[in-house]
Amino acid sequence: MTSGAVRGRPPARRLDGRLVALGVTGSIAAYKAPELVRALQTAGADVVALLSPAATRFVAPLALEALTRHPVEDDLLALLPDGRMGHIVVADAADAILVAPATAHWLGAMANGLAGDTVTATCLATAAPVVVAPAMDGGMYAHPATRANVRRLRDDFGYAIVEPEDGPLASGSLGVGRLARADRIVEAVVAAIGDRPIRAADPAARPPRSHEPREGDLTGRHVIVTAGGTAEPIDPVRFIGNRSTGRMGVAVAEAALDRGARVTLIVGLTTVALPPQAEQVRAETTAAMRVAVLEALPAADALVMAAAVADFRPRRAATAKLGRRDGLTLELEPTEDILAEAAVRARRLDPGPLLVGFAAETGSLDRAPGKLTGKGVDLLVANDVAEDGSGFGSETNRVTILSKAGQRDELPLLTKREVADRLLDRVARALDDRDAAAQTQAMIGTTTT
Ligand code: CTP
Repeated sequence: MTSGAVRGRPPARRLDGRLVALGVTGSIAAYKAPELVRALQTAGADVVALLSPAATRFVAPLALEALTRHPVEDDLLALLPDGRMGHIVVADAADAILVAPATAHWLGAMANGLAGDTVTATCLATAAPVVVAPAMDGGMYAHPATRANVRRLRDDFGYAIVEPEDGPLASGSLGVGRLARADRIVEAVVAAIGDRPIRAADPAARPPRSHEPREGDLTGRHVIVTAGGTAEPIDPVRFIGNRSTGRMGVAVAEAALDRGARVTLIVGLTTVALPPQAEQVRAETTAAMRVAVLEALPAADALVMAAAVADFRPRRAATAKLGRRDGLTLELEPTEDILAEAAVRARRLDPGPLLVGFAAETGSLDRAPGKLTGKGVDLLVANDVAEDGSGFGSETNRVTILSKAGQRDELPLLTKREVADRLLDRVARALDDRDAAAQTQAMIGTTTT
């Protein structure tokens, strides 16, 4: 056995699980940023790039986004889709911030706390260690102003400085100013992090991923999604309805289509555009939705019941428009619980479809576990619709996903599309598990008969 093997963890993966923010500023050496991203990734890091305005003239943000799979933070004032400030999310989640290359201008701005770009602002806001690799002309690096700024960063701020190397510079002259080699820089990042705990292990607390469809993990699956609110007629022109827009259900349908599923979208009243690639079934009343769901269920792999189904309907709907002068007393009766009935049917099917319910609560999610078991579903997505940024009509949602197996995942405020993808991550996994269990069962059956 070699001495390397007994050390346990291979040295190449010393940044496993770490988020490293790479701040790039406007030196010619910025062209080496993609190489640095690769070197950090090879060591196991999840990398997000921050670019100063000048850096975007040397290296295309798109190149760094493609490599890191995170949108690049190059606009100090830009907000993430869920309203969070991008560079603050990076500051709070990063295990280290690496500024490479750091220009003379950037060193001066940082030494004085001038947060004029995302790189300085993130360094000011973070509690993570900061590693700085300067690169510039030799004369500039030797200037007392630059030397003083470097000293300030190192001695007062505790930043690790990866000194530039001696060699040919962009100006054609020789001198100390070349960006340090990638391996030296990665080494400094590893040393700066040391054995600190990972700051944000949950991907939801990290900067968002660039939109990447979870490639084809629902290919060959048939998913039924219900969306919108039901309308229970009082007379031919009036109905009892609710505030649902259908946005959440449509987001689930779109995400499932992007992941390769065949989608049947059963819709009540909606105010959002429906994806044309889905098979659409209109079902405005609870009774019609029940029929549509139960009819589609036997051929489905999953039912996602995102519709806001009415709990009560008028016992009798008038056949002619009711006059205002007569006054009106409505007698209501409870509707059928479509999801609970689907769960009973699903238990008789082999393989049984996976059932997902939604629970829109106000104030607390205490009733959610009872709904999960009461309705007999596999997953329940619960949210507090009274909370800011959640609920009817909003672009975002903060949900908790409960599973039959007892898991409880509290997700942060996310776009409805991201909530849909997080949910479908679980659906895709559960369907794979279901099929694997069936296969094992079949093999046991064959070997014992
Ligand atoms: N649901 C359903 N049929 C109904 C009512 C609700 O299939 N008649 C479904 C919803 O689409 C949702 C889940 O059941 O996926 C939970 O809905 P919710 O309104 O929160 O639960 P209810 O059973 O109606 O309980 P309550 O009104 O007491 O909150």
